[in-house]
Amino acid sequence: MSAKRSSPLRVAVLASGRGSNLQAIIDAIEGGQVQAQIVAVISNKKDAVALQRARAHGLPDLFVDPKPFAGRPDSREAYDGALLEILQQRNVELVLLAGYMKIVTAVLVNAFASRMMNIHPSLLPSFPGLEVQKKAIDWGCKLSGCTVHFVTEGVDEGPIILQGAVPVLDGDTPETLAARILEQEHKIYPRAVQLFAEGRLKVDGRRVLIDDGKPVGEAIISSS
Ligand code: GRF
Repeated sequence: MSAKRSSPLRVAVLASGRGSNLQAIIDAIEGGQVQAQIVAVISNKKDAVALQRARAHGLPDLFVDPKPFAGRPDSREAYDGALLEILQQRNVELVLLAGYMKIVTAVLVNAFASRMMNIHPSLLPSFPGLEVQKKAIDWGCKLSGCTVHFVTEGVDEGPIILQGAVPVLDGDTPETLAARILEQEHKIYPRAVQLFAEGRLKVDGRRVLIDDGKPVGEAIISSS
């Protein structure tokens, strides 16, 4: 059964780039499809478009500079420690990685176990890592898509929450395929956040079960 919340889920978004997934989540919150509030948008890149998007919607944006941490043997952990402090100060309940181009360490992963999500532009476990749309084309995949998963220490390895599938067309370039996948990303990420807000996600080993048996985990095949 879904748990009724007394106040909106407190979400932080970590992003390094253009922030279109952040935008989809903002739009879904503003449109009433997702019962959450974004209490911080944090970037490791000063000029990230994601930060501009946050500002445009009156959301708190923070650039956390990795430079002061560089050079130390524990630079990644120290950086994540700084982020953790911010997240805890703001009572963040769910962290969303949205085009966040930094590997998160155990410092954050453990503090937010089963409370941190990532979106990845392939049907995991195929093609973790980078340039995955090109890899899907090069492998002759007929289907590709995107995956929302909980974050664990292994890159793109955590339990899968939702996936969206799209066809790979003969004339596709990495760019055309990426654009088709992105449309699905913008649907499934807000949906995953809402499922979390409703308390309907249960992690069972590698699997995420979606409470109440409704077919929300189905693949979405786009009609292009
Ligand atoms: C998306 O393709 C996402 O799947 C990947 O990075 C990209 C981020 O895009 N992790 P945006 O910054 O949300 O527009």
